[in-house]
Amino acid sequence: MILVTGGAGFIGANFVLDWLASGDEPVLNLDKLTYAGNLGNLADAAGNPRHQFVRGDIGDRELLRRLLAEHRPRAVVNFAAESHVDRSIHGPGDFIQTNVVGSFNLLEEVRAYWGALPEGERESFRFLHVSTDEVYGSLGAADPAFCETTAYAPNSPYSASKAASDHLVRAYHHTYGLPTLTTNCSNNYGPRQFPEKLVPLMFHHAITGKPLPIYGDGKNVRDWLYVGDHCSAIRAVLDRGRVGETYNIGGKSEKTNLEVVHALCAALGELRPGIDYTRQISFVKDRPGHDRRYAIDSTKIESELGWRPRESFDSGLAKTLAWYLAHEDWIGAVTSGEYQQWVDLNYASRKGAA
Ligand code: NAD
Ligand code: TYD
Repeated sequence: MILVTGGAGFIGANFVLDWLASGDEPVLNLDKLTYAGNLGNLADAAGNPRHQFVRGDIGDRELLRRLLAEHRPRAVVNFAAESHVDRSIHGPGDFIQTNVVGSFNLLEEVRAYWGALPEGERESFRFLHVSTDEVYGSLGAADPAFCETTAYAPNSPYSASKAASDHLVRAYHHTYGLPTLTTNCSNNYGPRQFPEKLVPLMFHHAITGKPLPIYGDGKNVRDWLYVGDHCSAIRAVLDRGRVGETYNIGGKSEKTNLEVVHALCAALGELRPGIDYTRQISFVKDRPGHDRRYAIDSTKIESELGWRPRESFDSGLAKTLAWYLAHEDWIGAVTSGEYQQWVDLNYASRKGAA
């Protein structure tokens, strides 16, 4: 069996559901259920005896020790993190606590567990750390895309905390021999993404008649990847990745934020004719330290592991919007409570000019 952390969040839940659908191996899912974790994301796994959920913190050493000893996973896949850049600007403390200290505690317990495994199991064990392209910093328009040897230059408290965890993972391999793998992926979109991130936030605002808040001039570029393609890449790295290596994962789909929002408005307009959603676009104050461009060179994972994204941006977006339209109850549940306070905090201060 494998242990997944953060498996009630956006990517983790999609990974767990794909995992259950594509094999026989059980999965133990450890998640703290922060504002971003939602058991509703795992509704499709309800009643599946191969899925076991435990509510808990990756920083809880005793809990980890017990879970590892009881379940004896052959691999750990670490998705658990605070993941939203804007929240890291308003309050970096939780990012340091989970992404740095939590990852350290997880690594320590995994190291102790792995060190005591019988030889064959120790050799085949894997610790896969899920990270982001944001650790590489910001690119200019003409710069080559990030590759695995690009120097780290994180610019936000979020990306700095993820960079710190990546460095710890690297050190645990180099120093202790822990069989680690690290993936650095570009921006994901797809079903079950919390509506604080660009695509689900714009969808939610569009259908509720609210302004579509574009930070700055809207020309910041991200390399968009459908979440199912990220999950298949992680499975490929877990399966066949070389121990101690890092793999960049991207969608070959660079788009400005304005392009993304226009595509979303057009696709939504086709699904619900009669409304011109672009009229809701509204430019707001920029994010402090806003990275201009991310782009991924995924040559390594493609040539070594034979992975390729299956979805284009258009096909992935169509699937995503269809899912959100069919799950208005999910949106209703996740946008109640704390969500409104976040929207007030993040967007009230951006009112006025771009
Ligand atoms: P998310 O915020 O949707 O989910 C994070 C999950 O981790 C939540 O379920 C939350 O409850 C859980 N969690 C948070 N702190 C925890 C703790 N201390 N202990 C246990 N669980 C905890 O994030 P996501 O978008 O699914 O991202 C998952 C991972 O992928 C993160 O590590 C993120 O850095 C990375 N990543 C995300 C993207 C993206 O576009 N979303 C791109 C590349 C990499
Ligand atoms: P986001 O989804 O927060 O991902 P990240 O910052 O990790 O790339 O944002 C994607 C891009 O969209 C980023 O350039 C910021 C921009 N953005 C907006 O213009 N308006 C918004 O309301 C949000 C949430 C993001």
